[in-house]
Amino acid sequence: MKTDSLDRTCPDDSEKAINRAEQHLRRGRVSRRDRWYPLFHIASQSGWINDPNGLSYYHGRWHVYYQLNPYEPVWGPMYWGHVSSSDMVTWRRERVALAPGEGDDKDGVFSGSAVVDDNGNLCVYYTGQRWLDPNNSRAGQTQVQMMARALDPNAVHFEKLGRIIAPPQNQRMDDFRDPKVWKQDGIWYMIHGVGTAQQKGQIWLYSSRDMISWTFLKVIFEDKNPDVFMVECPDLFPLKNAKGDTVWVLCLSEMRRDPQDPDAETNVVAGYMVGDFSPETGFQSKTSLRKWDHGHNFYAPQSFMAPDGRRIMYGWMKPDSSSMPTIEDGWNGQLTIPREVRLDSKGNVCTLPVSEMAELRENELQAGSLLVQPEPEITLCEDLQAGEIIMEIDLETSSFHQAGLKIHATADGSYVLLTYDKETHQLILDRSRGGNGDRSSRIVELDAVENELSLRVYVDRGSIEVYANQGEAVLSSYSFPNEGPRSLILTSSGGNMVITQCQVFTLRDNGLAG
Ligand code: FRU
Repeated sequence: MKTDSLDRTCPDDSEKAINRAEQHLRRGRVSRRDRWYPLFHIASQSGWINDPNGLSYYHGRWHVYYQLNPYEPVWGPMYWGHVSSSDMVTWRRERVALAPGEGDDKDGVFSGSAVVDDNGNLCVYYTGQRWLDPNNSRAGQTQVQMMARALDPNAVHFEKLGRIIAPPQNQRMDDFRDPKVWKQDGIWYMIHGVGTAQQKGQIWLYSSRDMISWTFLKVIFEDKNPDVFMVECPDLFPLKNAKGDTVWVLCLSEMRRDPQDPDAETNVVAGYMVGDFSPETGFQSKTSLRKWDHGHNFYAPQSFMAPDGRRIMYGWMKPDSSSMPTIEDGWNGQLTIPREVRLDSKGNVCTLPVSEMAELRENELQAGSLLVQPEPEITLCEDLQAGEIIMEIDLETSSFHQAGLKIHATADGSYVLLTYDKETHQLILDRSRGGNGDRSSRIVELDAVENELSLRVYVDRGSIEVYANQGEAVLSSYSFPNEGPRSLILTSSGGNMVITQCQVFTLRDNGLAG
């Protein structure tokens, strides 16, 4: 099936819409409260942010675009927000890049990706959204894949080129979105997510020689989980293992219905499978679906390849659906820090902060080796607004049952607890005594390590990211402390914790918090 080539159905008034959005964002910035606003994570200056989009490196700068509702701190009409950086840690806020137009993207510029085309221009592919009945989202929607090209080397201004792929005409397909494009052996490929009429989640593959007219090749994935009715934000990329062989990683963000309660809010899971891929044979999975992140707040990640060959991923720290205290502060949502995706020596996929993150380190609070006894606890830092903690724990000589860190501990006695359980090998992020917001816990069981546990923890004003054992497991969660200084405390129960190496760094801000 050959799809439509360029269909310029979007006479555009984006310029006006972008200016209006910018004005609103600036007003929102003035009234924003900053008690939990991130110092080193990417967030919108006000309003709502979701998926990372259009991740790219172009003319010497890193670009992160993102799903943005400039008008309210909840999901709504989608724009593409934009930040750029020369070093991946210090960011510049750019003008809103894409706004809903008057045609196929009238009700939203949904998620998509970026590539540098054969003429050296940055091109973005995204989904145009239109509600069938603008007053009733339950009436359904039309989604098509669209394209825009950057007009300047800073990739701030875009020319929309229109629709390139529409759903097959003989079937109604409401969920048809999130194009991810790459080039392989001289040919352009695209995948996007689909929710079929039979409520199956699929990923479709296309190819193109000119980047404009696309040929449907095949369905490369259908989710076997009967509760999954749509897979969003697919991504597919190769990684090399220690022997130099290539494996392929297929990423997807599943939307799952609750069979017991069809009206319940959709449950979502972002994961990946490892296998083989070729455009001819499609994707053959060799693993089951594994979660990218075991924290409370992670969804819709996107990756891209850096010029030096690294595979870099950002995720969206999806707000807790029940209670997001930041809404009253005028903002909602942030991205994770950038992570490098690699295969470890055993061939397992692992994710670690990019090495550039070390550039944010400001002061090192000396700690060295430490013996933590059940009493008294050890305060590592009296007030940590933004920091990084590195800990190597000797499990052989430690006698604790559960030990770890109290994070965002305030004078009223609230904190979030990160502990490792020596018997069950579980890493637990427990928000039950947290200051504000959702109070649930998340647990991940680590591979049984003989003698050492290594933790790397990033603490921002409203969130925590934990990387265990060189990226074997990650947990990303919001944490909204109460008022006053936010201490960082080492704690151990049932015996001692022997820390062979502990470093605490304060981190400077990324340039976006002001
Ligand atoms: C994932 C998602 C995408 C869609 C976008 C809309 O969070 O639902 O599938 O393109 O968000 O904002």
